[in-house]
Amino acid sequence: MKTLDRYVVAGGNRLQGKVAISGAKNAALPILAAALLTSDESLIHNTPVIRDVGVMLEILRRLGAQVEELPEGETGRGLRIVPGALASGEVGADFTREMRSSIFLMGPLLARLGKIRISYPGGCAIGPRPIDFHLRGLEQLGAKIEERFGFIEASVPGRLKGTEVYLDFPSVGATENLMMAAVLADGVTVIRNAAREPEIVDLQNFLNRMGAKVRGAGMDVIRVQGTEALGRVEHTVIPDRIEAGTFLAAAAITKGDVTAAGVIPEHLDAICAKLREMGCITEDGEDWVRVIGPERLKATDLKTLPYPGFPTDMQPQMMALMSVAEGTSIVTETIFENRFKVAEELRRLGGNVKTEGRTAVVQGVPQLSGARVECPALREGMALVLAGLAAEGTTTIDQIVHIDRGYQNLDQKLGGLGATITRG
Ligand code: UD1
Repeated sequence: MKTLDRYVVAGGNRLQGKVAISGAKNAALPILAAALLTSDESLIHNTPVIRDVGVMLEILRRLGAQVEELPEGETGRGLRIVPGALASGEVGADFTREMRSSIFLMGPLLARLGKIRISYPGGCAIGPRPIDFHLRGLEQLGAKIEERFGFIEASVPGRLKGTEVYLDFPSVGATENLMMAAVLADGVTVIRNAAREPEIVDLQNFLNRMGAKVRGAGMDVIRVQGTEALGRVEHTVIPDRIEAGTFLAAAAITKGDVTAAGVIPEHLDAICAKLREMGCITEDGEDWVRVIGPERLKATDLKTLPYPGFPTDMQPQMMALMSVAEGTSIVTETIFENRFKVAEELRRLGGNVKTEGRTAVVQGVPQLSGARVECPALREGMALVLAGLAAEGTTTIDQIVHIDRGYQNLDQKLGGLGATITRG
């Protein structure tokens, strides 16, 4: 059987045109978990057709939910989810190993069923990614948590109880998990030092449309007034700011001219500001952002931060740009401990990247040269695609199963902009 797990990219094409951006992976995943908070129907539009969403749907089916897929045009699909009474509260290792985000099934399942058994999520290519904030927060809401035989078992007699939770770090997943647990709790929950990402605002909107009472998402204090039951909901997932940022970065690295259509421009502010520092021209309208790349990018410094700071999920792609920029760039990664895995692969393409702890120094070279490389993880894989688009000759990228986790029809979308990229 022919394996289709690599991309072959021919470098040198200038990308031009308009690309339709899909629904946000990081909004769709918690929203799909939140659909379990009711026995009623959730209609969710604009979910991206990507591997991580496929895994989440399989988990929902195994838990006993009915899942129907409704085709919905080029950027995504609609989903109809009816959990009913739910047949199970157990999520096995095959899923948690595949997708760490399955951890945020804990909040909704605990709230709905009063118990959950979930296999401990494994480590990950971008660092250890502990779940202590999730567990501590759920305990503060009244859950009893035990870890044994590789599983986390959590239970609560009756309803969870509203409380004050302070997060040591504004963790995106912990904020979402606790919001989902708190909507069915007895009383008021206040989450302090909450993450402020746009995906959290989207989750709040979804929950409130189900009948929940959540306020404050987008700020660092979120207040949830618990209710006894939630009902039918219809919602459209926000566009994926990281997918959009990646295509804009593709314009930047190919001296191209690309418009990301169907986006919320404000969500791309930090990314566009960096691209301008590197010499790009940016324009935006109500629901689009255009980037025109310069003849040669300029070096810049970059520090990843929680939103509205520069997103860590764009850091590897920016490192690809820096590797061909004029001058020396310094990258500081403050969110994850070990997110420079792409440096080694960029070196194979002729890049000059040195890393030390959470800092990387990128000395730009005039031209990368095509080679065979391997995706260490999702965004890192995209960084290699971007580098391949700018390199001389052909770049073969192995292990693109990582890219499939988060990018819908990547080869078609890039091909539509004039890239020569094939899968196989
Ligand atoms: C989410 C995103 C991911 C993004 C990340 C940071 C989803 C599905 N994934 O991941 O794409 O890169 O936000 O913007 O939305 N931490 C702890 N203890 C915890 C939880 C987190 O120490 O209990 C640490 C992590 O190890 C990491 C930092 O907090 O260093 C941020 O992680 P977090 O915001 O939780 O990321 P995720 O929700 O996993």
